[in-house]
Amino acid sequence: MNKKSFASDNYAGIHPDILQAIIDANQGHSKAYGGDIYTHKAIDLFKKHFGENIDVYFTLTGTAANVLGLSSLLNPYQAIICAETAHINTDEAGAFEKYTGSKLITVKTDNGKITVDDIKNQLFAIGNQHKVQPKAISITQGTELGTLYTPEEIKKISNFAHANNLYLHMDGARLCNAAAALNVPLSVLTKDVGIDLLSFGGTKDGMMFGEAVIFFNNNLSKDFKYIRKQGMQLLSKMRFISAQFIALLSNDLWKKNAQHANSLAKFLKKEVEKIPEIKISREVQANAVFAYVDPKIIPLLQEKYSFYVWDEITSEVRWMTSFDTTKEDILEFVAFIKETIAEAF
Ligand SMILES: Cc1ncc(COP(=O)(O)O)c(C=O)c1O
Repeated sequence: MNKKSFASDNYAGIHPDILQAIIDANQGHSKAYGGDIYTHKAIDLFKKHFGENIDVYFTLTGTAANVLGLSSLLNPYQAIICAETAHINTDEAGAFEKYTGSKLITVKTDNGKITVDDIKNQLFAIGNQHKVQPKAISITQGTELGTLYTPEEIKKISNFAHANNLYLHMDGARLCNAAAALNVPLSVLTKDVGIDLLSFGGTKDGMMFGEAVIFFNNNLSKDFKYIRKQGMQLLSKMRFISAQFIALLSNDLWKKNAQHANSLAKFLKKEVEKIPEIKISREVQANAVFAYVDPKIIPLLQEKYSFYVWDEITSEVRWMTSFDTTKEDILEFVAFIKETIAEAF
């Protein structure tokens, strides 16, 4: 068996219930392109979780959900305000800019979360014909730095956005982790607090693949079926994404998987804190643990365990847990860290 990794939650495999759902859906023939019963049922479940008035479309990747969703909000001369650390800015190979022809306006943050003040400072050029025009704000929940927005913080941003003729998008690749950590239903962090457009992640919470683009504002979704097709994300065998979403959104599996990953991150933090040579660098709110590790040690640890160096300059690393991480995996990893440090110094 491959060793468990702490690189990302998408290094994990497929949750057995989700894999079973794929197998169960592999019976006979079904209508293609989303005309099947699985897709209808999955959409009904999304409506249960997020409200009746949503429009939902599935994509294969989170990058596609972000880029195609956002492209339906703006013209090329308009722009999105997001944190400098936002996945759309740092890890999508410029897909947003290439696909939409629009600009991202990035703001520096301490913890991955943008505030109303950060946004206000970017609105000085509205109406100036020489400048791109902000049209939407994109926030990530949980953020790329493992932090979470409270419902109140999101509401503040959405109130400000709507008062200033801006839409609010949420990159919810890890929305399940956020909702589980804050112990609230998915709607409390989205529909109830004024999100217009959501990229909802399934892959990082135990699915094989599949994300959803959810419009809370139906005026924005009227052309999305064409946008998705032109964007090459209309999967013909859609039932195999839908069957996975049915499993994830039934019996609280989304929450159980996320709670498990989150609690194992807290456990990892607690164990690592016992090692004096390592310093936890950020608050652990969901399933990411950030720490400063001596640069001499990092490659030695990486010989056995995959994980990312978040910041080469400060020697900060990121360790992520997933639905299938176990306490034993963590104890083994922590023992290896201790051993490696003892041998290196
Ligand atoms: C915050 C966030 N958004 C979006 C994505 C995009 O996912 P994908 O790799 O499926 O395109 C990721 C993946 O790591 C992510 O962490």
